[in-house]
Amino acid sequence: MNGPANITLEVTNQCHLDCDHCYLETNRNLDELSVDEIEACLLAHLETHDVESFVITGGEPLLRPDIDEICEMIAPRVEELRLLTSLSTRDAGSLVAELPIDALNVSVDGPRARHDAIRGEGTFDRVLENLRRIDRSRLNEVYLNCVVSSYNEEAFPDVLEAVDPLADTVGFQLQTWARPDDVARSAERLDCDEGTFMLPAVPDHPATPSTVTENVQEVRERGERSSTTVRVFPPGISDAVIHEWFGSGEREQMRGCQTIYRRPLVGPEGDVYPCPFVRQSMGNVRDEPLSEIWTGRSIEQFRQRLSETGLLPICSRCACSA
Ligand SMILES: C[S@@+](CC[C@H](N)C(=O)[O-])C[C@H]1O[C@@H](n2cnc3c(N)ncnc32)[C@H](O)[C@@H]1O
Ligand code: SF4
Ligand code: SF4
Repeated sequence: MNGPANITLEVTNQCHLDCDHCYLETNRNLDELSVDEIEACLLAHLETHDVESFVITGGEPLLRPDIDEICEMIAPRVEELRLLTSLSTRDAGSLVAELPIDALNVSVDGPRARHDAIRGEGTFDRVLENLRRIDRSRLNEVYLNCVVSSYNEEAFPDVLEAVDPLADTVGFQLQTWARPDDVARSAERLDCDEGTFMLPAVPDHPATPSTVTENVQEVRERGERSSTTVRVFPPGISDAVIHEWFGSGEREQMRGCQTIYRRPLVGPEGDVYPCPFVRQSMGNVRDEPLSEIWTGRSIEQFRQRLSETGLLPICSRCACSA
């Protein structure tokens, strides 16, 4: 049946942290889908489609008191249920150990001092303590996600040693950001408010390109010697593109974006977005089925605009376009 085989659900917008690099505006006091509503709105889709990958994220998904019920409802109906979390609430380790998930993504943004400067005092030790409580043998993958930004550019390769041997994979993801001018031009293109775009708008370059380039090379080399798999996003990124990515100029070279065809983002209130950074609602699962929204007029018009006139200026520093 037609309909997305990959889904991301933000179960909450609440978050107890305030990470420096984060694209989200958290704690907006939204009317979040209840567990009964998630069931009513998504169950039919899950039972009639082969959903290969379902990602639960937030905000901080572990702040939902009913996260266990949500996972129990979704897990048996999808091929892989993955939880994306900061793993830094006090009871996160024991809570996650009981959840019926298939894979776990945890954010680690540096060795202790850097991670704590970005995410809050004491969070690094808490993440490690919580990671140790999780039985990796029952998970397909423990993936640690490190966002490369000005806040950790000097130190991100040391994440590898700091978390060894607690993860199967460590991914280094270049921070998504946009220049204010890119946001303004994107809003013009879509004829929408600039607030539609949820990503850091930075007037100047947000990290030092030469430092990032050197350290990306360093993690690649360390990855070859490590039993932990190392990935860099965007994959295969060259030094020249890293310079452009964190440079202050316009970036033109972009290929197409698959996310807007393949992975709807269902927000906390049930709105369906084409991606995490473009918060233009294509419909709401409270009102119509996800598969109809994902093949409907609004999303088709959005895709057509982007395929006819190219991706948006804000897409130029997003891993999905590079
Ligand atoms: C928005 S968080 C939600 C889940 C959870 N709160 C966490 O931090 O893992 C999902 C992931 O997006 C990453 N992220 C936040 N802002 C980003 C940005 N501007 N560019 C790239 N990744 C970003 C976070 O570091 C985290 O790994
Ligand atoms: S990255 Fe995650 S933990 Fe940090 S502020 Fe954003 S949502 Fe919260
Ligand atoms: S390339 Fe653009 S449309 Fe695609 S995920 Fe990134 S910001 Fe969204």
